[in-house]
Amino acid sequence: MTEDTPVRGLVEALTLEETVRLVSGTTDPTGRATGYLAGVERLDVPPLCMVDGPLGVRIPDESATAFPAPIALAATFDDELAREHGAALGREARAAGADALLAPGTNLIRVPQGGRNFEYFSEDPVSSAATAASVVEGIESEGVIATPKHYVANAQETDRATVSAEIDERALRELYLPSFRAAVAAGAGSVMSAYNRVNGTRMSDHRRLLTDVLKREWGFDGYVVSDWYGTEGAVDAAAAGLDVEMPGVPMGGTSDAMADDGDDDAPASDDPIPPEIARGMPDSETCEPFDETLPAAVRDGSLPRERLDDMATRVLRTMDRAGVLDGDRSPVEVDAKAHRRTAFEVATRGSVLLKNEGSLPLPADADVALVGPTVDEPVLGGGGSSETTPETSTAPREGLEARADGAVTVVPGHPPIEGVSMLDLVTGGEEETGESADGIDPVGVTDTDDVADPVDATDTEDDSTTDDLDDDIDSAVAAAEAADVAVVVVRDTTTEALDRDELGLPGSQDELIEAVAAAADRTVVAIAASGPVELPWGGAVDAVLLNWYPGQVHGDALAALLYGDVDPGGRLPVTFAPQSAYPTADRRRFPGVDGRVSHDEGVLVGYRWFDARDPEPTYPFGHGRSYAEFEYRDASFEVVQEGDGGDERFDDVAVTVTVANVADRDGREVVQTYVRPPDVAGVDRPVREFAGAESVAVAAGESETVTVRLDDLAFSRYDPEDGWTVDAGEYAVEVGRSARDARLELTVER
Ligand code: NOJ
Repeated sequence: MTEDTPVRGLVEALTLEETVRLVSGTTDPTGRATGYLAGVERLDVPPLCMVDGPLGVRIPDESATAFPAPIALAATFDDELAREHGAALGREARAAGADALLAPGTNLIRVPQGGRNFEYFSEDPVSSAATAASVVEGIESEGVIATPKHYVANAQETDRATVSAEIDERALRELYLPSFRAAVAAGAGSVMSAYNRVNGTRMSDHRRLLTDVLKREWGFDGYVVSDWYGTEGAVDAAAAGLDVEMPGVPMGGTSDAMADDGDDDAPASDDPIPPEIARGMPDSETCEPFDETLPAAVRDGSLPRERLDDMATRVLRTMDRAGVLDGDRSPVEVDAKAHRRTAFEVATRGSVLLKNEGSLPLPADADVALVGPTVDEPVLGGGGSSETTPETSTAPREGLEARADGAVTVVPGHPPIEGVSMLDLVTGGEEETGESADGIDPVGVTDTDDVADPVDATDTEDDSTTDDLDDDIDSAVAAAEAADVAVVVVRDTTTEALDRDELGLPGSQDELIEAVAAAADRTVVAIAASGPVELPWGGAVDAVLLNWYPGQVHGDALAALLYGDVDPGGRLPVTFAPQSAYPTADRRRFPGVDGRVSHDEGVLVGYRWFDARDPEPTYPFGHGRSYAEFEYRDASFEVVQEGDGGDERFDDVAVTVTVANVADRDGREVVQTYVRPPDVAGVDRPVREFAGAESVAVAAGESETVTVRLDDLAFSRYDPEDGWTVDAGEYAVEVGRSARDARLELTVER
């Protein structure tokens, strides 16, 4: 490869120790980076600085735009917006002096209560892959190395560092791998390996998935970086295909030691880490830094020098492509206002109007009772390595007070439901920066004083009495009775290293909603959530608006949506149903038994499961209402000969349809396509599979013609013997508003 010529020269000039140093994590002398490679001064190889994360740049004691959660971005079904969002993330990383961003999170959402669902995109591989590819393109367009993570099958937080996901090859290929493949094809310079095992093998040691599939089959020529303390056995990991080990230096103590406060240097905590969180923490003691082991391994022949050189080549090549190597890191500035606008766009376009019986949009002069435990608290995100600290933010109260012409009566409510800051639990909230004695951020979580929502994760109880609670509910009810409409703002809580216990809203929020709904003329519930939640009061309220975790623009976005300044453009990238209806209600499938998590639901994840079984979801995949109303007309398709250039499988199909806005207000529609495969003897396939979508603004009374491109993944299945296969026959292509709302249907012969 010609582009590797300077890189090859460098690799040849490196001593053994220098080569190892180039791929070994170490402490950033400035204490800013989440992960750091020191470079080789003698040869003018600069350091490589990596920072978290998917919701925005996270550097101790520094602020950045707190973007909406990635699941909100996926809900926009808009690749262009995802690219813009990625570019904004990349630009902030670049402006902060970082070379690589530890994002996007591209794991498939398999478990509805997964603790990091907000960091991921979708339960569907096609939608997840499309969003991942666009975010990667955006990040890389700013000269920043994107790091899709966590490769692969990191679908739960419970025991994440040890569990084995037992997955058959078909489900791996059809569901769990496509978003990584798409991210790599989109130019990701780096991939982070997951903590978990797949079919018994630790992902950092998974030769088949790292070397055979990722590198050889997909042609990935960047570097694979371990998740923090995610390796065990440096030589095996390097031989299997891991290129960079992070963080490379010991923690102040192990996760166990931290839990016991057993290490004098470890951050002090009065409260031991709750065992359920400790269960999700990696064990730094069993992790083996590369620089301690690899030099000897190369000398005694247990690791071929060629492999070590390949590791270094991958790092240098990626640095070279991003412009890091030649030192051309001209300073960039962040246009904070422009990024705030992008955040607002994603928050509003990603919000999903689950239900609306005519109460929304609110008339500007309505008297509003604004109630709920989080009206004064913008929901910035979940806990863990994605916690971002914004310079400014708006809470729901501020947003509504600024927008409403009528009176806004606020009853904050009790008890508070606050977010979870994982490192608060690790450090007891006493550390300035959340760093260990070695300056290393254990799992990349820092800054316990200033992080989004510092609170004790286990503190679901508080000092309140039942009387306090009744008083608060009574005040909310009184305000609701006196107003034209009650808006109840509720939330869930999640964090890395811990899955949610249940899909119900925490605390007494359900009780509050029920009491308000019984008293108010009209009740609107606005939910800030990480993923699916149960809505037992759904039938009793007039409207339900889902904002996911909206980030720093929470209040502004909420007000703009409630008053109809913008149309809620989001559609569900995950099925909403009672917890017991998902395949993962079986504990063999989640959280697993004896360290093994069966994925024997195979390819029936998310809506595929609900289609194959009886239960009607509460809200199906793809669901979301608009304030406008649309009709679908004149669907047609053509076969596009070039395909996506991705591989030889089959040509793409372009579906074209006209969408008419028959309402008297402007709106935004997400035109969705689903493919129903033909019956083929001996082959089980999902009833339908999402194949692509386009988001389009349609002015009142106008029509737009929309084309959705379906790639061959839409028609093919993975056969363990024959690989990707397109069965001959007639495929129905549904064009419509959700997985359960087809408006038109086409037949495509393959
Ligand atoms: C652990 C998390 O799993 C990963 O997503 C993050 O990037 C690293 N810690 C670094 O903070």
